Amino acid sequence: MMKIQKIMVIGAGQMGSGIAQVCAQSGFQVVLNDLKDEFLDRGLGVITKNLTRQVDKGRMTEADKDQVLANITRSTNLQDASSVDLVIEAAVENMEIKTKIFEQLDEIAPKETILASNTSSLPITEIAAATKRPEKVIGMHFMNPVPVMKLVEIIRGLATTDEVYQAIEDLTKALSKVPVEVNDFPGFVSNRVLMPMINEAVYTLYEGVATKEAIDDVMKLGMNHPMGPLTLADFIGLDTCLYIMEILHEGFGDDKYRPCPLLRKYVKAGWLGKKTGRGFYTYE
Ligand code: CAA
Repeated sequence: MMKIQKIMVIGAGQMGSGIAQVCAQSGFQVVLNDLKDEFLDRGLGVITKNLTRQVDKGRMTEADKDQVLANITRSTNLQDASSVDLVIEAAVENMEIKTKIFEQLDEIAPKETILASNTSSLPITEIAAATKRPEKVIGMHFMNPVPVMKLVEIIRGLATTDEVYQAIEDLTKALSKVPVEVNDFPGFVSNRVLMPMINEAVYTLYEGVATKEAIDDVMKLGMNHPMGPLTLADFIGLDTCLYIMEILHEGFGDDKYRPCPLLRKYVKAGWLGKKTGRGFYTYE
């Protein structure tokens, strides 16, 4: 059985830093990789802030926090993949970039190393085809915010072996997360169900059925969702929502996946949600 001890996380953004934190907190050695030192600084800053909050709340000692931080080493060189058992890629959602990263990883990493992608919407089978080890390529889709959300959607590519699936399922449990197995189709399960709901919420706003606050209240108070769909869209990023809807629309061809024109308009305006200070709502 494959033993995973050392994990490289590629990308120190919102998802990558969360994944690195969770792995380090569970005692794994983590190599956090990004293109520039300033990106690593920012990611490690977020991790440190999250851990400090745990210490302040009495859930973690200062010594534990130091240990977690000591489990993470910095890297701006993909060659560092030569000493890891698993790579979890959380770079930008762009097929060309991901393919290039996987091609390089395939050259650098030991032949036993599993190559996972945190992609939320790109086909694992196609990413795997960029390597000479498609049987060791798998999707490991964490949810945002990673330290809080229990789910890891594990996506089997066409060639992924049972042994590799099992190793990733075991790892997910070791991270105190809950694995759910899915096959490789557009949007997997999470975004195939979530994004059409968000898109439909945008259509109800577009058609003047109700105000944004009313739409969010219906889903929050009526369906017990922690956030309304328009707030959640702002939180995910409207560009990401549009991008995933387009993948669903292209992948299935069905009109039910057609992105709402209002969603396109907001993205064109640069109103991308929380990260730009304005989406359906405005943020400080
Ligand atoms: N990082 C770390 N911890 C965070 C956090 C973050 N970014 N945001 C919130 N938390 C923690 C808080 O510290 C707090 O912890 P304690 O209870 O231990 O103090 C806890 O989460 C609750 O936070 P708040 O009280 O501030 O606020 P809340 O009760 O509204 O919870 C939330 C925040 C967990 C984000 C909640 O609103 C929620 O569950 N929202 C929906 C999230 C969701 O749907 N995520 C999936 C997005 S889709 C995706 O990720 C997949 C994709 O491919 C697009």
